[in-house]
Amino acid sequence: MRSRIPNEMRLAYGKNRLFPPPPRRLADSNRRTRLCRPLPNLSAKAPVGGMVSALPGTSEGVTAAAYLPERLSLPQLREAVQGCRGCDLYRNATQAVFGEGARHADVMLVGEQPGDKEDLAGRPFVGPAGRLLDQALEEAGIDRTQTYVTNAVKHFKWQARGKRRIHQKPSWSESVACRPWLEAELAVVEPRVVVCLGATAAQSLLGRDFRVTQHRGELLESPLAEHVVATVHPSSILRQQDEASRQAELAAFVDNLRVVAALL
Ligand code: URA
Repeated sequence: MRSRIPNEMRLAYGKNRLFPPPPRRLADSNRRTRLCRPLPNLSAKAPVGGMVSALPGTSEGVTAAAYLPERLSLPQLREAVQGCRGCDLYRNATQAVFGEGARHADVMLVGEQPGDKEDLAGRPFVGPAGRLLDQALEEAGIDRTQTYVTNAVKHFKWQARGKRRIHQKPSWSESVACRPWLEAELAVVEPRVVVCLGATAAQSLLGRDFRVTQHRGELLESPLAEHVVATVHPSSILRQQDEASRQAELAAFVDNLRVVAALL
């Protein structure tokens, strides 16, 4: 179906293109062939310094690229991610939390990283932020079961405060290290619309200089998918000081998701 968004509403954001344009959706036979081959450009190196030197004999930082399975399929990726040592975050996490949802979803929603609940459950967006996301998707008229939900970083980064595990924002190098998993999910699912939830996801996919505050809710031109939209992370709505601000932020978030719903 053609987009109902007029061309003049589109914003070109091509400065920090990270990927070659993904091939458009392929006929099933071609799709199978392509998925048997390695993805192009999975060799992005994380900046040296912030990374663990996990590969003996190398002085450069490594990424998750070495841990990807030969054949890219969601079940194989989901299994392989548990062995990922592309950065140090696996050390304190219960497990890696891979994306889940419809195999060829039209919409891929990308969050930051699993939280406490997700780390324990092994599933993305099942805690408080996930419940708010569900509510917002429903209000915008998007069926979550028809989407694919994932995170830019697959392990929970946290710090102990008493008995609580407090979320820590992943560093840029951790985000870069984890990106091959996200690239692989994009290549397999081939969503028509990618929705970046918050700065970590948006910067991982659109470049480090990208500012959600400047481009929130806009239709961005990117080689990632036919349409890319960046908005806030649902946790930022939960962090609002009072109920009135929370409701206002939620309404704005739903409006952003309605832009996505109009594309489907
Ligand atoms: N926040 C995220 O970014 N992702 C989750 O899966 C949960 C909370």
